[in-house]
Amino acid sequence: MEGSDRAREVRERQRADWNTVAGGWKRHREKMSAPTSSITESMVDALRLRPGDRVLDLACGVGDPAFEIAERVGPEGFVLGLDLSPEMVRAAQAWAAERRVGNTGFRTIPSELELGVSPESFDAATCRLGLMFVPDPVAALRELLVALVPGGRIAVSTWGRPKHNPNFSLPMEAIAKHADLPPEDPDAPGLFALPTPEALGAVLEAAGFSGVEASAFETPVVKAKNAESYWYGLTAMAGPLVSILASLPEERKQAVKKDVVETIAELFDGGAVEMSGEVVVASGEKPPA
Ligand SMILES: C[S@@+](CC[C@H](N)C(=O)[O-])C[C@H]1O[C@@H](n2cnc3c(N)ncnc32)[C@H](O)[C@@H]1O
Repeated sequence: MEGSDRAREVRERQRADWNTVAGGWKRHREKMSAPTSSITESMVDALRLRPGDRVLDLACGVGDPAFEIAERVGPEGFVLGLDLSPEMVRAAQAWAAERRVGNTGFRTIPSELELGVSPESFDAATCRLGLMFVPDPVAALRELLVALVPGGRIAVSTWGRPKHNPNFSLPMEAIAKHADLPPEDPDAPGLFALPTPEALGAVLEAAGFSGVEASAFETPVVKAKNAESYWYGLTAMAGPLVSILASLPEERKQAVKKDVVETIAELFDGGAVEMSGEVVVASGEKPPA
């Protein structure tokens, strides 16, 4: 398959995956954003924002970190969130309207290579837990570089290594056990495509950012009442897993669920589930003109 056909296919799949779970993200926004607030904090710190800054947030989802940044830059500043999924964007727009947040805008884009913004029109850029899903992360970052003013800063984050993210790797193992899926392409975009500071730092440098710093840290990612409720949250929000599950015959889906719920219940003695995971955060700046 031609590179551009593959890229188109990746985007279509992503758009469909995230459209499917946008309702879950809208209903349970707190479930995702509260435990993962340290990721947003670390990214926002790296941006060194000032009141009045204009910030571009790629793969904005339902608005994290866009709404947090909107508070930091104040009424004179502005945050533009862009995403492939119209349903995610609609949820972000609805939240902004409900809360009367006047300094944000959210737009659906056809591709991370077509941002529809003017060169040098933003002071900072972010991409939280999205860059690993794009077909070509360096190309996507180059578009953000073009959109930034010289000296403008960027902060991005991705999930770390699979074995340090059991909230995803455990269900993925159960899926592999019960579903007859073709082997995964290790270079394909996905949850664990940029799982180390080296990998994430390298794509920022390749795109032309300077002063790149990257680190990994453990952070809370999931809180649930019990194993059943963990499964409910997972299947309401984890786009890539939800579409794989949806493609399975009912009995296999039930087998995956049984496996995951039993394993988690055993791990947490049938009680509340609290899992942490590894994330990678990297930052840099557009070299001064
Ligand atoms: C895990 S969600 C993260 C959303 C939000 N940034 C957050 O941290 O809560 C991943 C988001 O990436 C978006 N996405 C995936 N591929 C994309 C692409 N090529 N261009 C723009 N957005 C993309 C999805 O639609 C989805 O909203």
